[in-house]
Amino acid sequence: MKIPFVDLQAQYKSIRQDVLKGVEAVFDKCNFVLGDEVAKFEADFARYCGSDHGVGVANGTDALHLAVRALGIGAGDEVLVPANTFIATALGVTFAGAKPIPVDVDASTFLMNPMLIEKAITPRTKAIMPVHLYGRMMDLDPVLEIARKHKLAVIEDTAQAHGAELRGKRAGTRGVMGCFSFYPGKNLGCYGDGGLITTNDAELKEKLEALRNYGSKKKYHHPIVGYNSRLDTVQAAVLNAKLPHLNAWSAARASAAVKYNKAIEGIGDLILPQIPDKGSHVFHLYVLRTKKRDALLAHLNANGVQAGIHYPTPIHLHGAYADLGYRKGSFPVSEQLCDEIVSLPMFPEISDEQIHYVVGQLKGFF
Ligand SMILES: Cc1ncc(COP(=O)(O)O)c(C=O)c1O
Repeated sequence: MKIPFVDLQAQYKSIRQDVLKGVEAVFDKCNFVLGDEVAKFEADFARYCGSDHGVGVANGTDALHLAVRALGIGAGDEVLVPANTFIATALGVTFAGAKPIPVDVDASTFLMNPMLIEKAITPRTKAIMPVHLYGRMMDLDPVLEIARKHKLAVIEDTAQAHGAELRGKRAGTRGVMGCFSFYPGKNLGCYGDGGLITTNDAELKEKLEALRNYGSKKKYHHPIVGYNSRLDTVQAAVLNAKLPHLNAWSAARASAAVKYNKAIEGIGDLILPQIPDKGSHVFHLYVLRTKKRDALLAHLNANGVQAGIHYPTPIHLHGAYADLGYRKGSFPVSEQLCDEIVSLPMFPEISDEQIHYVVGQLKGFF
């Protein structure tokens, strides 16, 4: 048996007609840049999240970059990011000219440890960028409290947590902006690159709309330096076809995670992911821990199970961030996790038979 890490084809088969109809409408109108489909998706996705505004951009990295820029954060400023995340979190800060400052994570949640935030704040700190990593919505109450005390902005990296919800609020609505990616493998993914920023602040919305469009709200008027970073209309049409299914897909992911946890408990030294309050973890990734990670990963891959590591290197140990001056040992929890984590196949359409096969391979290994 071969179990893919993500099965985009299975999902496409279930929505093919709607996707093709939406894309065909864009082609028929030839309204390719900032067409009606973009405005519709921005409005619908913002409403889905419970946010006043949505601004579509070219990808999730740009969402983070433009969010940082929109706040006027740049050279000489610092933004706190978790040490355990995909590099794009830090890149969004770097693109704006500011410095990403890693903060270690909590070993049980894998998320930025709120207890370590204040220690990392300096007079140059302007914002905190928590990541709802793997689809788990971080409890932002303590982060928002610290941010208020130190007059910092909170920008949520929601690239992996579409629709995650904690105490009635969805990811991307608690900070001043939420930054989404629609990379194909994401919980809500398009068929290329795409991104969006949610905000309740009308002024920021205006600024973001200018920043993504050459710094312009009115043709050939450019009061600020901007970028070409719009959500593509064809991608918006794909997202419009997919959004109505997002809740069902999240529920299917959560249900697969419960099945995995029940079946895996007690196997070897595997540490299971926590399953927190209903709806607060949308399981973009299902991540286990083991001291035998490298051997286990090789065994899974050799037996047809496409497992992966998210992510093998913490932010501070990438060559790209060597100039930040950290070294091995600077963020020990993130470093340990990077050595022990393994992500199993996870997608809404994963069948009981596929889960059974993956678990069988885990048992076989241990
Ligand atoms: C946590 C996180 N932040 C940011 C991004 C960047 O998104 P994109 O690939 O759309 O630029 C991703 C996904 O790739 C991500 O996983």
